[in-house]
Amino acid sequence: MEFNKVTVAGGGVLGSQIAFQAAYCGKEVTILLRNQGSIGRTQPKLEQVRKSYLDAIEQMAGPLGQENWARGIADRDNFDKQACIDRVEAAYNSLKLELDMAKAVKDADIIIESVSENPKDKTAFYKALAPLMDEKTILVTNSSTFLPSQFAKFTGRPDKYLSLHFANAIWKNNTAEVMAQPQTEQASFDKVVTFANEIRMFALPVMKEKSGYLLNSMLVPFLLSGLDLYVNGVSDPESIDKAWTLGTGAPRGPFQIFDVVGIKTAYNIVLQYQKVPGLICPLLKKMMMPYNFKGMEKVLKQMIDEGKLGKSAGEGFYKY
Ligand SMILES: NC(=O)c1ccc[n+]([C@@H]2O[C@H](COP(=O)([O-])OP(=O)(O)OC[C@H]3O[C@@H](n4cnc5c(N)ncnc54)[C@H](O)[C@@H]3O)[C@@H](O)[C@H]2O)c1
Repeated sequence: MEFNKVTVAGGGVLGSQIAFQAAYCGKEVTILLRNQGSIGRTQPKLEQVRKSYLDAIEQMAGPLGQENWARGIADRDNFDKQACIDRVEAAYNSLKLELDMAKAVKDADIIIESVSENPKDKTAFYKALAPLMDEKTILVTNSSTFLPSQFAKFTGRPDKYLSLHFANAIWKNNTAEVMAQPQTEQASFDKVVTFANEIRMFALPVMKEKSGYLLNSMLVPFLLSGLDLYVNGVSDPESIDKAWTLGTGAPRGPFQIFDVVGIKTAYNIVLQYQKVPGLICPLLKKMMMPYNFKGMEKVLKQMIDEGKLGKSAGEGFYKY
């Protein structure tokens, strides 16, 4: 194995999932946290992730298992329920939490930065980290919205720095977008692809820097197009979804996706896109602007105020 010792910085929603998945795949994982309070917040998250894995394994063994297969957990043709459960427990018990940065990153083969999506926090983190890393260590960021070139100069190793972007519910949605920045050397890129595959992700190479990576470069324009039809009174969410699902055979339309992603995230995307119109998709700016962003903002804000936050809240565009 190229990578054995893995350090995940940040024990939030994604950090806890990434750490768990790497431990599940036999890596020695340390989660770097900021302070005592972070330990109290991260432990219940890890417990929650553990439960999600066990629930997923139970489902995989059940009658609807094939439809809900968690690809991060096991292959379909080689599934041993008890072995997977044992691996989950072993992963949970093996995770180390560490507040001392120097100790957390010593000997690390790879450091996965998954700290808050805030450029000040990320910059401060990289500046503190730069003098502490071993020569061999590869450093990746899980940032969803920032380009790695923005931080490369603070890392002290731009040739070994790139993006490794995971999706939420990593055990099921097992894509890993591997994205180089201009100074990333090919060998580091290749190693990160190998690592992603070692932890049961499906590695997707992104050879050039691109906001939104692959998935969001397609998904965001699609979602906004559906929302625009609705807020301009062209049709209703259900009919727009049907046009898409019946017309293409896709399992979900834009509003069904919005309800899963959550209305707050949808609202944030709408706000962000107004600030930087070409951010995710320059083509969209040229061809399809202007969208009725003000209308989108109003509709989504009202839903948030009414507690219709999406599927997890029991209601979004649909009732569950
Ligand atoms: N939530 C998602 O669905 C998702 C999906 C893909 C990628 N991401 C990316 O993952 C990263 C983390 O997102 P999240 O949703 O887990 O956020 P989060 O707010 O749940 O967690 C961020 C964590 O980082 C910690 N942190 C901040 N500064 C730190 C530092 N200097 N050292 C150590 N820890 C520090 C915070 O205490 C917090 O626990 C972001 O870059 C985000 O864009 C998130």
